[in-house]
Amino acid sequence: MLLLAVVFIFFPAILTLSQTPPKKTPELLNRGKTLYGKYCASCHGNQGDGNGTLGKKLKTPASDFTKPFDNWEFSKGDIKKVFNAITNGVPNTAMAKSHLSDEDRWALTYAVVEFAASSNKTPGK
Ligand code: HEC
Repeated sequence: MLLLAVVFIFFPAILTLSQTPPKKTPELLNRGKTLYGKYCASCHGNQGDGNGTLGKKLKTPASDFTKPFDNWEFSKGDIKKVFNAITNGVPNTAMAKSHLSDEDRWALTYAVVEFAASSNKTPGK
């Protein structure tokens, strides 16, 4: 009985927790940038513009993160959807799911969204 209670009460709580974005600290952002260079730049490009050596050759080209965040094809300005795309991948494309920790995936989330924020294509930023 106690075990059931633990499963039903705490498990959803843990799931919800992992969906809650951690604070965007400079350390987390830097970690995301390092991970990005290691795991993502080959497709999405060093500048996040989708021009990675591999990204250009794909049937479905890698996403251009320098577009205004609201215009991202899957995430449409929603940071949790960015996290989900990294966590689950994008079906029927080369975008594979990531096995990195929650914290690392949030770090990557902030790092890719940063490309849109720092891009001169985003008006007013
Ligand atoms: C093998 C190439 C490849 C690699 C490596 C790769 N991606 Fe992708 N990514 C893609 C493709 C292809 C898409 C889907 C593009 C489309 O359908 O328009 C995509 C889509 C995405 C999206 C969805 C963007 C949107 O429109 O909302 C995010 C976020 C993303 N990738 C992040 C990452 C991160 C972070 C990494 C590194 C951990 C990574 N990708 C590594 C190819 C790649």
